[in-house]
Amino acid sequence: MKLWGGRFTKPTNQLVDEYTASIYFDKKLASFDIQGSIAHVEMLKACGIIPEADADTIAAGLQTVAKKIEDGTAVLTAENEDIHMNVEKLLIEEIGAVGGKLHTGRSRNDQVALDMRLYLREAIIEITELIVGVQESLLNQAKANLDTVMPGYTHLQRAQPVLFGHHMMAYVFMFQRDVERLMDSFKRVNKSPLGAGALAGTTFPIDRHLVADKLGFTGISENSLDAVSDRDFVVEFLANASLISTHLSRLCEEIVQWSSAEFNFVELDDAFSTGSSMMPQKKNPDVAELVRGKTGRVYGHLMGMLTTLKGLPLAYNKDMQEDKEGMFDTVETLRGALALFAPMIETIQVKKEKMDAAVREDFSNATDLADYLVGKGMPFRESHAVVGQVVLACINDNKYLLDMSLEEFQSFSNLIESDIFNVLHPETVVNARDVAGGTAKNRVEEQITTAVAAMKES
Ligand code: ARG
Repeated sequence: MKLWGGRFTKPTNQLVDEYTASIYFDKKLASFDIQGSIAHVEMLKACGIIPEADADTIAAGLQTVAKKIEDGTAVLTAENEDIHMNVEKLLIEEIGAVGGKLHTGRSRNDQVALDMRLYLREAIIEITELIVGVQESLLNQAKANLDTVMPGYTHLQRAQPVLFGHHMMAYVFMFQRDVERLMDSFKRVNKSPLGAGALAGTTFPIDRHLVADKLGFTGISENSLDAVSDRDFVVEFLANASLISTHLSRLCEEIVQWSSAEFNFVELDDAFSTGSSMMPQKKNPDVAELVRGKTGRVYGHLMGMLTTLKGLPLAYNKDMQEDKEGMFDTVETLRGALALFAPMIETIQVKKEKMDAAVREDFSNATDLADYLVGKGMPFRESHAVVGQVVLACINDNKYLLDMSLEEFQSFSNLIESDIFNVLHPETVVNARDVAGGTAKNRVEEQITTAVAAMKES
């Protein structure tokens, strides 16, 4: 007999049971569901809604059910549809009819919203800690590479040299925003919907705040219709997860490029690379590629959730059961990626000489020649044109700016003097960007200090 079977004259078609059941995936919520039920029953006791002895029997029974689910001895069935009714059935099996008092003043609609919030609170904290781990690896690479000059790119064309440490710090700040977004969203997740009932509240003199306090929530949802219909917190999480995935994926793309023979800027540790079944020489950046690839499924879950919610009338609709798999999969996808990323970044071998050689074989010091002429009084627009001519001549001569003689420079402008060679040296070029946020070594050191302070604060 179904828990809700009273008004039915026939058993449910088995295909309906299988199709509508969520137990296949919401069994992940078991511990949260039971945690919520224990708080609920303690509140029922405190408010004198059910007798003390009954409440204690129910709470103890719930602990037993929790153990049985954990060790796999409890049988969860599609016939009992979801984790909520499976737990209730198991409780009644355990302690008898008194278990039927648990659901007093509660509906699965506020119960499932509660479970989702309890699950997500933990997940957000875990994901945040994993992001911090990635930030720490990036910080270590930044600190180790404050003298490593690499070509900086725009349009994937060499633009101006930057410190590899500066490049690493760009990601530290991106992930810092992700951490801050997660922490901000946490405030909205951390409200208790319990007591909203099916949609309108309950006739029992419950104490919503007491349950909320017991479960560590900072408050309650203010409107019962909203409480059971709201999945904004899931959307927000998926949106934050999408942005985290974007950041990971951009870094993945750089790692894939940098570890190619064409760039040859880094080498991944053997423990974080894979080989080819056919080509013996191959060492592939599979982890970076797969993290980049899995970004698609995270975006997909965000779109899926938004689309499920779009057009749903208030209050609860069964459509909302679709909120779970995407959220679980997103948490697992991020967990996997972030856990791998920290050690993968930490163990990357940075090929300083190769980066250095790359910087010498390009025109990324051209802006500095133009700025030099500006320093001698030439308007920037004019110096830009002069340097364009110098670059063109170099290209025709198959050489770079530092291969020019002073006489050759002076044939373009007699403002150029012998100090130009130092000005155009890659390290000078980098350290000339001595502006807040810039790539000069002291400025990157400043960024490290700022980032570490922000990380401590969040
Ligand atoms: N399994 C359901 C879900 O995940 C629980 C809530 C069901 N409520 C209902 N009235 N059918 O959304």
